[in-house]
Amino acid sequence: MMFPYETVALSAAIAGAYNSPFDAETWLSDCTKTFIHVLIFICLPFAILNRLYFYPLLISPLRDIPSAPQAPVHKRLLKEVRGLEPLQWLTNVPNRGLIRYFGLLNVECLFVTTPAAFKEILDTKNYRWIKPPKSSSLFKLIIGDGLITLEGPHHKEQRKLLQSSFGFRQIQDLYPTFWGKAIELLDCMTRGIGSRGSGDDAAVLDIQDWMGRAALDMIGLAGFGFKFDSVSNPEGELVRQYRRLFGIKPAPVAQVLAHVIPTSLLRFLPIQALEDVRVSTGAIKAYLSKAIQEMRVTLAKTGGGQKPVVDRDVLSVAMRDAALSEQQLIDHAMTFLGAGQDTTAFALTCAVMELSQNPELQERLRQEIRANLPSPASPGFCADYPIDPARLPWLTATVNETLRCYPSVDAIGRVSLDADAFVAGHRIPKGSIVNIPVGAVNRYGEFWSGSSFDPAKWCPERWLDHDDGAKLNPTGGAVDPWVMMTFSRGARQCIGERFARAEMAVVLAALVGRFRFELRGASGKGKPMEDLDIFYGFTGCIAGGLWTGVEVVPGW
Ligand code: HEM
Ligand SMILES: *[C@@H]1O[C@H](CO)[C@@H](O)[C@H](O)[C@H]1NC(C)=O
Repeated sequence: MMFPYETVALSAAIAGAYNSPFDAETWLSDCTKTFIHVLIFICLPFAILNRLYFYPLLISPLRDIPSAPQAPVHKRLLKEVRGLEPLQWLTNVPNRGLIRYFGLLNVECLFVTTPAAFKEILDTKNYRWIKPPKSSSLFKLIIGDGLITLEGPHHKEQRKLLQSSFGFRQIQDLYPTFWGKAIELLDCMTRGIGSRGSGDDAAVLDIQDWMGRAALDMIGLAGFGFKFDSVSNPEGELVRQYRRLFGIKPAPVAQVLAHVIPTSLLRFLPIQALEDVRVSTGAIKAYLSKAIQEMRVTLAKTGGGQKPVVDRDVLSVAMRDAALSEQQLIDHAMTFLGAGQDTTAFALTCAVMELSQNPELQERLRQEIRANLPSPASPGFCADYPIDPARLPWLTATVNETLRCYPSVDAIGRVSLDADAFVAGHRIPKGSIVNIPVGAVNRYGEFWSGSSFDPAKWCPERWLDHDDGAKLNPTGGAVDPWVMMTFSRGARQCIGERFARAEMAVVLAALVGRFRFELRGASGKGKPMEDLDIFYGFTGCIAGGLWTGVEVVPGW
């Protein structure tokens, strides 16, 4: 836990007299300067020593919980624990449901390690645990008050309003939209390949970039009836604004600042990344507001007693049944953008990454797709084509396994509202951050022991039973549904799971149906695969992109 004086001292030190963005000489009176000097030279050193040594070793009420074997503090002070790092701790640190570790700036955190404890937090006591206020308020700056950031009764009410718009039937209705965009994607990529051949002559494309654009267009169209058109026109104005907003990679210094300075003050600081956020959210919201007004006009015209004919996108469907204010509609649309684009794009990118390293599996999948789906290029192709998982077991297994091994959201974090919260039998002080390490849980041997395949490896076959042809295995060897945590579970489970799975199935079917992918080492420049670097910001991302050899396989 951070003490208030610690925050004050750190903030003062950073924003205060030295390197001040303001004109310190005229802005601060001598008295204020003296005060800041006291803070900096007396409180700050003590605060730092306390944060690094006294508190964790001598004071913390969590110090009896088994701790992770981490590097010395100077090597990890500016790093958050992300991705697969906790996997070895699950295996090697004997524990009874909790492992203590230190995150960015040595903040004391807990990893929760048993499905029973996940349930306590996300299900039984769901509304007594909230998202960590710091990250939540940063999200709010960008995406406003949507499902991601709302808490308690506000969340419950909005969730109820939107739930049915993400239902089975509604997602089936979105397949034509997904197929339409997938066909456009195939056309544009095929054009990008041009007359390049196969093998060493094959075109090399950044699949991560293509997936990002496809996912942006799809969430726009199917989420709220909005055309980004970034697949065919990556340089469009709105696309540029969008990429500026969600592509912002704050410098480590900015991350530390964002961590120690209250968000309400943050917005007044002249930091470039924040300025970009302001400009880009403003621009996108202005577009959205216009689009939403048009949607309302259409609704009003077709309304008047009989059931209005509206578009099939999620937000239009929700508007048919619920009175949502314009502000709410904008916040929901921004939230779908923030939650539904990068996440799905990352999962699709990782699917291609794995398939391009597994040529036999890729070939097997292509056969299944070609045998069961007509080519989207054929004149009679009917885009109204829901993908039936039972008929395409290899495709479904590939999607399931990619989601298991590469969860776009690598940790689910919560903070207790109650002073007497318990997890796995241990009292958790109010304000302590507990984290579910999704990436590690999804691969941890003990949780996936129901199958003979190595749980640490990507292997779609764990989702298949082979009697009389391939058939889906519903568990994949998981000992409990609560160890596949990619979309979280409980009352705040990802509302877009069906949406994302449908989109992924369509895009993968189209891509693998038409193209052969062959990895050219990390970055496409022959660097060894070990150099391929997956890092985590809001979601996972491959540093420098996924450069893959792509060739058309004739006949579909
Ligand atoms: C592979 C793709 C996706 C993954 C891995 C994913 C993962 C997640 C996770 C882990 C959460 C829970 C976060 C938490 O409670 O701390 C979540 C929530 C959410 N997701 Fe997704 N998501 C994906 C795609 C989508 C899509 C396509 C949409 C929208 C169309 C979407 C909309 C949401 C929303 C609105 C929430 C908040 C739900 C609530 O708190 O009630 N997600 N997602
Ligand atoms: C595997 O995929 C199918 C089809 O999308 C889905 O219904 C099922 O829940 C998935 N299994 C798991 C454990 O995620």
